[in-house]
Amino acid sequence: MPTGPVSPRVVYRPGEEGVNAYRLLISVVLPRPIAWVSSLDAHGVGNLAPHSFFSVASARPPVVSFTSVGRKDTLANVLATEEFVVNIVSTELLEACNGTSAEVPPAVDEALLLGIELEPSAVVGPPRVVASPASIECTLHATVEVGDSVVILGLVQAITVQGRVLRDGRVDARSLDPLSRLGGHQWGTLGEIREVRRPRPEDVLP
Ligand SMILES: Cc1cc2nc3c(=O)[nH]c(=O)nc-3n(C[C@H](O)[C@H](O)[C@H](O)COP(=O)(O)O)c2cc1C
Repeated sequence: MPTGPVSPRVVYRPGEEGVNAYRLLISVVLPRPIAWVSSLDAHGVGNLAPHSFFSVASARPPVVSFTSVGRKDTLANVLATEEFVVNIVSTELLEACNGTSAEVPPAVDEALLLGIELEPSAVVGPPRVVASPASIECTLHATVEVGDSVVILGLVQAITVQGRVLRDGRVDARSLDPLSRLGGHQWGTLGEIREVRRPRPEDVLP
């Protein structure tokens, strides 16, 4: 059994004085992929905002999740229209994506404000980001309230991928070039990529 460097641990317990569990969690649960969520309000006003509490929640049916920490415009739109699009953020989109995290009033469309080009989605009402290498179109599957946050589960209706990121019909990670969120104000890019096959039971059993 290989061991890496080991040192005495500092124990942090939520609720104890001076412990900010949220800050610690976003500093150790990383890298986090970023869902750049486009949505529309009931009157058709657009919204675009990054959410890094984002993952695949179910394989069959295909469901993705993201979390609104507090009640944000994105959440209000998803509850109103029951549709949204997760746009994947590539390295070149960092500044544009970060710009849309400014907390502007609901009536302000961040994409219009910042000149981010959108185009109609394949299936759902909210548009997608033209420059995003891949977008996931969703209808609302469920929401789960957890304390001050709301987990939004989206049933995937379509996944659209720019042809330039496909190699032999598969998405090439290097071409997708996804950004990730680290702790604080840090962002990450893909580092080394290793290909290691999963062991079969007989490879690990005595
Ligand atoms: C990279 C990044 C990741 C973020 N992840 C989240 C997240 O997971 N959940 C959240 O509520 N806010 C997150 N934020 C903050 C929101 O983007 C920000 O509050 C934004 O103004 C919300 O927009 P809205 O009110 O238009 O929905 C993130 C910001 C950045 C820059």
